[in-house]
Amino acid sequence: MCGITGYIGDNKTTDILIDGLKRLEYRGYDSCGIAAVDGKNRLYLKRVSGRVDALDKLVAAEPVKGAHAGVGHTRWATHGAPSEDNAHPHTDCSSEVVVVHNGIIENYLDLKEKLLAGGHKFKSETDTEVIAHIVEEKLKSLHVQASAARADMLEPVFFEAFRRAVADLKGSFAISVVWAKCPGMILAARMHSPLVVGLGKGENFIASDVSAFLKHTKRVVFLNDGEMAAVKKDGIDFYTFQGKKVAKEPVTIQWDSTMAEKGGYKHFMLKEIHEQAEAVENTLRGRLLPIGGDILRSEIGLSAEAMKSFSSLQFIACGTAYHAALVGRVLFENFGIAAHADVASEFTDRAKLMAPNTLVIAISQSGETADTLFAVREAKASGAKVLAITNTVGATLTREADYVLHTHCGPEIGVASTKAFLGQLAAIYLLAGHFAAARGRLTGTDARNYAEELLKIPRLIEETLEKEKEIAKVADSFASSEHFLFISRHINYPIALEGALKIKEIAYVHAEGYAAGEMKHGPIAIIYKGMPLLAVAPSGRTLDLMAGNIEEAKARGADVVAIVDEASKKTVKASRYLVLPTTGELFTPMLTVIPLQIFAYYVALAKKCDIDKPRNLAKSVTVR
Ligand code: M6R
Repeated sequence: MCGITGYIGDNKTTDILIDGLKRLEYRGYDSCGIAAVDGKNRLYLKRVSGRVDALDKLVAAEPVKGAHAGVGHTRWATHGAPSEDNAHPHTDCSSEVVVVHNGIIENYLDLKEKLLAGGHKFKSETDTEVIAHIVEEKLKSLHVQASAARADMLEPVFFEAFRRAVADLKGSFAISVVWAKCPGMILAARMHSPLVVGLGKGENFIASDVSAFLKHTKRVVFLNDGEMAAVKKDGIDFYTFQGKKVAKEPVTIQWDSTMAEKGGYKHFMLKEIHEQAEAVENTLRGRLLPIGGDILRSEIGLSAEAMKSFSSLQFIACGTAYHAALVGRVLFENFGIAAHADVASEFTDRAKLMAPNTLVIAISQSGETADTLFAVREAKASGAKVLAITNTVGATLTREADYVLHTHCGPEIGVASTKAFLGQLAAIYLLAGHFAAARGRLTGTDARNYAEELLKIPRLIEETLEKEKEIAKVADSFASSEHFLFISRHINYPIALEGALKIKEIAYVHAEGYAAGEMKHGPIAIIYKGMPLLAVAPSGRTLDLMAGNIEEAKARGADVVAIVDEASKKTVKASRYLVLPTTGELFTPMLTVIPLQIFAYYVALAKKCDIDKPRNLAKSVTVR
């Protein structure tokens, strides 16, 4: 998730681009840049490692005069560490084609290889740079005929070159391109990454979201997947990737810019809850099939052979990431692969006792959590190899680990982790599938079914999110409760823990997450009449036991809300149900956690808590 801006018109291009980037910084801020062209085909490129304020200072010190078209970008690194060289915009060999991009070009390694063989020189480690070079290639082939033609013939050539370049790309992208030779037009394309154009008077805008240009215009057109835009100062034309013109009606946005930053949601947390299907989709993209093969080898260096060689797995993580680790433990054990999970701050002595050839899997959204880093260092000192699952390219954890599997969730702003958790789960399910298949524990139809079920999850997440209003109603009814219980079993036990953590951290209420079978060993004593108890009870091997535990709680007065699917609803007797779409038993945590996140959110909202910045907490805990 990065932020893109684009502008064409007679106003101060660089000021507009930079102001837009400031408003998009919430999408990522490890580096940024702008490129602008003037009427004499001169291109100005300014980039910095760091935040937009630094770019602003640079441009103020070396102003760009006379530019009337340009693009800007604030980056959240996916390919290549945060640095000036990797900052967008990226250029082709001639430094005439300039590209900004949000998303992931899945086939960039193949494309890069071909371009290198064709003599192209690369200046960054990004996937994005291939786009500039492909446009350059396509221009070369088309420009032969067009070079002798009038300047206005350059526009169709540029359009066609870009269209053909886009056809070569696989993955997710929102792209905007400027060609110095053709300064009267900016081109843009969208596939699985947001892109919107803003319609001004004698000027037009491009951005990842409307907050970038809302103070200039509220009339916008959202691009759909597979659509392109040719943006000139006096008009915009829309096309399909096949080059067919499409008519699109502008809509008028009512949001102010703060609302727009949050996509119209009241809080980043709610926005991020709604981004979870995308987080899973992006994390799985291009990494799952063929299951059990060497698909992760080129990306993270982990071959199928290596996956076979580890004696066991040891997860370490903190907070929400630890709950993802617990799901991972059950999942790997389900495939007969020995796995342990520990809270990083409690890992110390265990590091020395790990079985030889254990693979340590450290999970951390930020990659900077001190407890996790310390545990990783202990594990490495004991000779273990470490695989990091993190959302942050270039974080300390990535530099210390032997293998790094990035989740592609985009920056998570809310302190309460939501979409990062789903991204971590997606990475774990991906790894578990590959490990199990490589070790002969997941074969034939089972392997196919596993992959198919996993690929369906983003759609089921969307369906689950449709229950928001229903969940909010249940939450409102408990808004004055001071104590909450969350129970479940097996692979959903960590989800009960996560449900309790979420509500504790954002609604400041006392909550306990328990293994349902443990309740009778003590905690059941705290149940009083009307106590809210959320029971995660989807279909699966422990459903009958869960149904029994729910009865026990009800008999002591608990007011039970059951998180079920259509089938398990028939077995569980509760006062209220939240019915989720059906998926395979092993995959249920990726759905069951969602109502608990939404539940916590609405309890916190009713209590008027500071949801995105809860008291006493920090997004990344860098002390032990
Ligand atoms: O950045 P990390 O994933 O290492 O952070 C770990 C925990 O601090 C984090 O998950 C924390 O528990 C969240 N606030 C939970 O919502």
